[in-house]
Amino acid sequence: MAGTIRKAVFPAAGLGTRFLPATKAQPKEMLVLVDKPVIQYGVEEAVQSGVDNILIVTGRGKNAIEDHFDVAVELESYLEQRGKTEQLEEIRKITRLINVAYVRQGEPLGLGHAVLVAQNLIGDEPFAVILGDDVIDANPPALKQLIDVYQRVDGPVLAVERVPAEDVSSYGVVKIDESAGNLGRGVYRISDLVEKPRREDAPSNLAIIGRYILTPDIFPSLSAMASDQTGEIQLTNGLRHLLRSRPIYVCEIDGVRHDTGNKLGFLKALVYFALRRPDLAEPFRRYLETLDLKAGAGSRP
Ligand code: G1P
Repeated sequence: MAGTIRKAVFPAAGLGTRFLPATKAQPKEMLVLVDKPVIQYGVEEAVQSGVDNILIVTGRGKNAIEDHFDVAVELESYLEQRGKTEQLEEIRKITRLINVAYVRQGEPLGLGHAVLVAQNLIGDEPFAVILGDDVIDANPPALKQLIDVYQRVDGPVLAVERVPAEDVSSYGVVKIDESAGNLGRGVYRISDLVEKPRREDAPSNLAIIGRYILTPDIFPSLSAMASDQTGEIQLTNGLRHLLRSRPIYVCEIDGVRHDTGNKLGFLKALVYFALRRPDLAEPFRRYLETLDLKAGAGSRP
């Protein structure tokens, strides 16, 4: 029987160079979408999916993440004294709902390496990996959708999404095993996966998005992986190694995904989530309507 998913790993040691200078002195995971740091969206998704042991893989300069998920005693008593109960509840909510642990990835040696660093804290049980850059608005939450599939197939499950052919080289891309039969809507067994293929080499346009349910046998597979040309251990390559010894599945997520790891994706996510906020949607929409979008850069309402 498939085990329960109790722990989620959040790789967060990356340098965030794409957002410099904003990320010079603050982690990219703390960039704000409306009023919440990006990483909190992923943590809330985990909690809403029934996973409350959060394991964050950090590196140098990431202290703000630890502070964010810690109890802020002074701030809490300040808000309490002034009767600001709504804000107090908001900041308490997330710290109360999770157990959080941190492990350091000394050198940024890739996603596979980040998962390997978490091995001792994961132990011998299945677990989730959430890449915080991918913020997914879905109901049920994306991770819950994966867990439901995992319970059925009892093996590793990766979240995927169909992407335009010109974008495949930004992702891990999977090949569907057509012989596996019908596993349910959007659920497939895979026969191969490749990290960031050239467009002409891609086995499909089904791209891995940042949610995984993994089994502990991924660890020996990752250890067996020599670093690739970039000097990194890729999770995709570890999974490819694991595929030789067990079936791996993918699930097309029903929801809206934003890649907040690049500037345009971040801006789109910001507008998307602002328009979903009951307190901001109307005035923000009214503001957007005043913009003369055809006039291009520099135009003023
Ligand atoms: C990572 C993974 C890739 C996956 C992507 C999803 O790449 O290596 O397989 O498709 O996340 O966001 P990165 O975006 O970190 O380069």
